[in-house]
Amino acid sequence: MEEACSSMNGTQTLEVRNLTFATGADVPRHWHGGRRSVTRFLDNLSIFFPEGERFFVMSVQAHRHVVENDPVLRKLVRDFCAQEGIHGREHRRYNDMLRAQGLPVDEMEQSVVRILKRAKRTLPPRTQLAVTAALEHFTALMGHLILARPALLEGAHPEMVALWRWHAAEENEHKAVAFDVYRAAGGNYAERSVIMLAATAVFWAKVLEFQTRMMAEDGDALSAREWIALVRFLFVEPGGLQEVWRLWADWFRPGFHPNDIDSAGAIAAWQASAGA
Ligand SMILES: [Fe+2]
Ligand SMILES: [Fe+2]
Repeated sequence: MEEACSSMNGTQTLEVRNLTFATGADVPRHWHGGRRSVTRFLDNLSIFFPEGERFFVMSVQAHRHVVENDPVLRKLVRDFCAQEGIHGREHRRYNDMLRAQGLPVDEMEQSVVRILKRAKRTLPPRTQLAVTAALEHFTALMGHLILARPALLEGAHPEMVALWRWHAAEENEHKAVAFDVYRAAGGNYAERSVIMLAATAVFWAKVLEFQTRMMAEDGDALSAREWIALVRFLFVEPGGLQEVWRLWADWFRPGFHPNDIDSAGAIAAWQASAGA
């Protein structure tokens, strides 16, 4: 078993910002400065959020009893659920925009639902929580880079920039909540490591499938130029997501805690710029 809950070492309160974004007809189809495959990669992530975050909330709430005697973590759990609920709402609106563009949103969302239903049916509750903690690590890392590398959203539509930066900031604010509840529930290094490997494989296989489907709708599925642009964004460009992979590996360090990755400066800069 890993060290007991350490909510006192990290964020002690979360701000629940009930924001809404104009993700409608005014947003161009390829809103990331015309970068088609990169736009679709971010759209792709949005497909996962409404159902994924519902699963996160469910798996954390199922363990409320283990934080009964920790008032700080108990409050963080409540605010975590509230933040994720609003994220889910805004990503449903985002996905409505994608549906209006003719993308097969319902089919993709149903595919996510099926995976999560299978996880709920076959995994014990604490293992489901390990899945949540693992995927929260991913969302926090992507969010960290969105905040810390302004080049990542350079040239994108301002409303989409605002939405992604808000979500990125709140993911970093609450990045330790599921992890701390998991530890309080007796979670351990071996389980969380195996689950991270499995969750990574399942998640990225789906990302690749959805990316291909969305690029096919744009007529780009066979475009070497668009696939190369995406690979560069994910693995090569200093202003892209390449650092995610190094930070991802940090999860496998015994004694790792999400707060080891310092996002405080990036969150503060976002708060100052967004007036949040
Ligand atoms: Fe979220
Ligand atoms: Fe989250």
